[in-house]
Amino acid sequence: MRKKLVAGNWKMHGNLAENNDLLNAIISGVTELRSESVAVCVPYPFIPSVQDKLKKTNIAWGAQNVSQYDKGAYTGEVSTTMLNDFGCSYVIVGHSERRTLFGEDSKIVAEKYVAVQKAGLTPILCVGETLEQREAGTTEQVIGEQLNAVIALAGVDSLSKAVIAYEPVWAIGTGKTATPQQAQDIHSFIRSGIATQNASVAENLTIQYGGSVKANNAIELFAMPDIDGGLIGGASLIASDFIAICHAMQN
Ligand code: PGA
Repeated sequence: MRKKLVAGNWKMHGNLAENNDLLNAIISGVTELRSESVAVCVPYPFIPSVQDKLKKTNIAWGAQNVSQYDKGAYTGEVSTTMLNDFGCSYVIVGHSERRTLFGEDSKIVAEKYVAVQKAGLTPILCVGETLEQREAGTTEQVIGEQLNAVIALAGVDSLSKAVIAYEPVWAIGTGKTATPQQAQDIHSFIRSGIATQNASVAENLTIQYGGSVKANNAIELFAMPDIDGGLIGGASLIASDFIAICHAMQN
């Protein structure tokens, strides 16, 4: 059976005191989850303190971005080996905010994905269409291109060590969630496309949904056959909401 994963994406939020309270609540709220996985992807400076807090728990941690380069004169960048030093399990790559606000194209995203896997970490590869693209009827084409850039560089088998997050850009931080059926349709499109290249990789691939997942819509979304948990932004900063979303994986 494939793994379900709820991962929090804290984005550029938090401080040491708030993080401490948030993690204390999450740790006690998710202790009985066993086969489902929970992770938090946090800003770089907080990784050591988050590691300290979570190392004896069943919650994993990770980063929201990373350099595609191993080391060198790249002022301001962070490498995968540095993340490895702090016990990270996951790195988000290709989040739409990175693609649109920081100019990361599919080639850079694919290089980051490769760097993450090379370090033995698991990439959470984000794909998704804008509202204009959805309205123009090009959703599948856009997502196909985003995925193909990674498959062309890393090979389809690499997806056995990755997580995909389908995040429609129009649903991120807007309170406007894709309906469970809209999300399911795209998850099924992604899985069946990969299945044409490797059926067992497709069957075992964790595909998260992201975009305004809240405590009150997670159960319905996660009940869909091809939705294997979620990538959670805003609601991951509210302990009770995040815990409820984690529990929604069990239904
Ligand atoms: P949101 O963000 O849950 O606040 O919509 C999701 C994401 O950006 O990963």
